Amino acid sequence: MTRILQINASLNADQGQSSQLAAAFVAALREQHPNALIPKRDLAAEPLPHLDAARFAAFIARPEARTPSQQAVIDESNTLIAELRAADVLVIGLPFYNFGVPSQLKAWFDHIARAGETFRYTEKGPVGLLPGKKAYVFAARGGLHAGTPRDSQTGFVQTFLHFIGIRDVRFVFAEGLAISEASRNESLAAAHAAIATHARSHAAVSSTNHAAGHAVAAVSGEVALAA
Ligand SMILES: Cc1cc2nc3c(=O)[nH]c(=O)nc-3n(C[C@H](O)[C@H](O)[C@H](O)COP(=O)(O)O)c2cc1C
Repeated sequence: MTRILQINASLNADQGQSSQLAAAFVAALREQHPNALIPKRDLAAEPLPHLDAARFAAFIARPEARTPSQQAVIDESNTLIAELRAADVLVIGLPFYNFGVPSQLKAWFDHIARAGETFRYTEKGPVGLLPGKKAYVFAARGGLHAGTPRDSQTGFVQTFLHFIGIRDVRFVFAEGLAISEASRNESLAAAHAAIATHARSHAAVSSTNHAAGHAVAAVSGEVALAA
């Protein structure tokens, strides 16, 4: 049975543009997979704490040496990792806030990056431990940033997901949402068209990336990244 994990990071919960785009894609996937399990995590409604020294100490403490509070930190992280590990498809709603990813999403990343759980170091470098998944990222932005040095999000999110083993990462952008009504409408229409395309091809899309580097297909709509 297909399991789709939806991660929303908008301050505006389900009303956020990124959340709505993510939801539209999930709804389209649900049509293909009526029995899919679709857990959803709203990182703004249920924010995770920032990673601090005490939390990181819990991550690296030997299991038998953990204090009760360290075990609680591990339990919370394990819950997040288990949700992700169980998912076939990861769907992220990604708002663009102050030239970066929402701090709530960064906190989620910080709680799922665990050596021995989601990645491990080898003599040849780090190896991600969550292979075989597809990720779809729905990026909503007030301005126009894709393909420019201002886009601090896309490479970062892709790099992080690759690091934990999620190699097939596709981005759909809705940009220029704050520029004008026309820009917003055009951008959202392009994003919804990209969503429909992705949903149609989802079953056929290989989970293996063959290309290297970034392929920017459009400023608004679909931007597929492969590395
Ligand atoms: C706190 C905050 C900071 C923002 N910073 C930027 C920014 O740096 N650049 C930009 O293009 N848009 C910025 N925006 C506009 C958002 O990218 C836009 O509203 C987008 O729809 C946010 O996604 P959401 O609707 O899912 O929350 C910002 C919006 C907010 C609320």
